[in-house]
Amino acid sequence: MDNYQTIVGLGRDAIDTPALLIDLDALERNIKRMADFFATVPAALRPHTKTHKTPIIARKQIEAGARGITCAKVGEAEVMVANGVDDVLIANEVVGATKIARLMSLARHAKLTVAVDDPRNVAELSAAAQAMGATVGVLVEVNVGMNRCGVEPGEPALQLSRQVLESKGLRYRGLMGYEGHVVAMPDRQQREAACLKAMKLLLDTRAFVEAAGIPVEVVSGGGTGTYDITGRLPGVTEIQAGSYVTMDSAYGRLNLGFEQALTILVTVISRPSRDRAILDAGMKAMAVDHGTILPKGLPGATVAPRLSEEHARLDLVDVDLRPGDKIELIPGHGCTTINLHDQFYGIREGRVETVWQIAGRGRFR
Ligand SMILES: Cc1ncc(COP(=O)(O)O)c(C=O)c1O
Repeated sequence: MDNYQTIVGLGRDAIDTPALLIDLDALERNIKRMADFFATVPAALRPHTKTHKTPIIARKQIEAGARGITCAKVGEAEVMVANGVDDVLIANEVVGATKIARLMSLARHAKLTVAVDDPRNVAELSAAAQAMGATVGVLVEVNVGMNRCGVEPGEPALQLSRQVLESKGLRYRGLMGYEGHVVAMPDRQQREAACLKAMKLLLDTRAFVEAAGIPVEVVSGGGTGTYDITGRLPGVTEIQAGSYVTMDSAYGRLNLGFEQALTILVTVISRPSRDRAILDAGMKAMAVDHGTILPKGLPGATVAPRLSEEHARLDLVDVDLRPGDKIELIPGHGCTTINLHDQFYGIREGRVETVWQIAGRGRFR
């Protein structure tokens, strides 16, 4: 925590750049807005913490009513459990002896659930659980149209569910299906129609598995773009939305009602001409995988789409900016941008209130 003691209480411009800022009021309102929605439906929120990778934010989400958290990787889950989170879904396949051993160690310290889509993986998880005296919850992942992981709906999901049910050391909990091909569709009606089509595959599979006599306790899916579509469906029990807490420009286009809490503070390092300024942050500080990076509160400025490693170009029309000025940018994709940084600077009323370590960043194993 390099400059924690000297920076707290100072104004935003005292922060060296590039730096990630969190508007704490906006973050808290986003957490509350999502919690308020889940107070009105039977499904619970299990926020995906791959967005912020920061235990204190996970804790705030849980304090606001979230059932537990979702992680993408064992490494993320290790960080969260070590910081007191006790109920984690790894919404992903955990494959290979090394990771499975870590998973089972972790399962001795927290309630863990993992996704599966392969019979050999199920056998390996079961053998490791027995060898280590651990129990891990399991969701069978169903492909609901994203064509990433997951068995096909219906019979293949039933067969794998049976295998899990019969496997020692594993506790069959139900089904998961992530409609990732749908969550970012800009048009609400199209998104809703596509989402219902995807989730029908999952809910029909639930009915099919239950008709075979297997109780399905958990049906998990959903993202920020679909939380209030999937989250209202009878039979869905948990929603994995993550990005809502910080937001980014890609989700901003969907007008979901969440506020942009995350920005990147950058410094102008050069003003070579009237129509351009150069910033001290490039693709090593801001992800470029999707979304458009937007200058905050600077009409007349746009960020040129091609970033250098350590530079970005601002194209300007009548904007007064000079070397040394600090401005904020809205990331195109929050999750991958946050993963590039060690710390969040929590800002309230223009001052640094806190510095949070992004303890799970880079934990991709
Ligand atoms: C398995 C899974 N669940 C949920 C999400 C939801 O994330 P978001 O809220 O960013 O849409 C993601 C995003 O990548 C995911 O991979």
